Amino acid sequence: MNHIHSYYSPNDLYNKIIEGLNKIGKDLSMLTLDDLQPVDEFHIRGDTATKELITLSNFKPDMHIIDVGCGVGGSTRRLSHETGCSVTGIDLSNEYIDTAKRLTQLLNLQERVKFHATSALTLPFDDNSFDGAWSIQMNMNIEDKPAWLKEVYRVLKPGGRAILYEVCGNKNTPVYFPVPWAQDSSMSFLVPPEPFRDIITSAGFDIEVWNNKTELARNAFAHMTEPVGEPNLPELGVHLLVGNDILTKAYNLHRNLDEERVSLIETVAVKPVN
Ligand SMILES: C[S@@+](CC[C@H](N)C(=O)[O-])C[C@H]1O[C@@H](n2cnc3c(N)ncnc32)[C@H](O)[C@@H]1O
Repeated sequence: MNHIHSYYSPNDLYNKIIEGLNKIGKDLSMLTLDDLQPVDEFHIRGDTATKELITLSNFKPDMHIIDVGCGVGGSTRRLSHETGCSVTGIDLSNEYIDTAKRLTQLLNLQERVKFHATSALTLPFDDNSFDGAWSIQMNMNIEDKPAWLKEVYRVLKPGGRAILYEVCGNKNTPVYFPVPWAQDSSMSFLVPPEPFRDIITSAGFDIEVWNNKTELARNAFAHMTEPVGEPNLPELGVHLLVGNDILTKAYNLHRNLDEERVSLIETVAVKPVN
């Protein structure tokens, strides 16, 4: 797991984001969620997907939700801001969690949005402690998917819903590397949708919603062309999170989607009330 931790550990991330915001002329005292969106929603279709997931979640203001693999917390903050619920985000990366906390403070959302650096495989929370769970494009880095889902199941209250938005394999996997979540095959563990569904139900969940979002992902990346020469990167973008080869990674994701090497699944899994 160390190489995955290193991949998601850029130096001085918070200050780089602040520098980017300053360069594009944002007033830090009036910062909005949308201002941070280019860098803090690190998943396919960004805030558009997050908003769809929020609608799907039906999470309410009195709920406490866990965001497993929250990154720098863009969708964690948006979930809380738009529903009024409290959210605790966890992530393997200390650098991301430090950045997540500081950005949350900057937006004055720290009362309802908290973060901890920890692994999804050993959640430091009691059984039945959350009303809902939310996990966005983390499973690709998880080899032991049953252990991750058993942990999510354990910390959820009976009747609690887990919203998962995850990249899976497809009929022509293996994939071209690097991709946004992995520099090489040692960091990426994709299973096709049907085995993924089986792992979720084996952990004890009932599947309430199962949407294949691959076509939308394919359309979102359709414009990507093979990068040549020095990358022309924006001041604020996910290259700050995973490196300046992001355009190659996005281009490979486009090829992987086009050639049916990866797929994208959105699902709601429910912990039954026994
Ligand atoms: C593609 S990013 C998505 C981040 C965030 N969910 C978002 O949508 O912006 C994948 C995240 O999974 C985290 N991650 C990978 N393996 C993990 C593990 N075992 N436990 C917790 N987080 C992990 C990474 O540190 C990274 O932040």
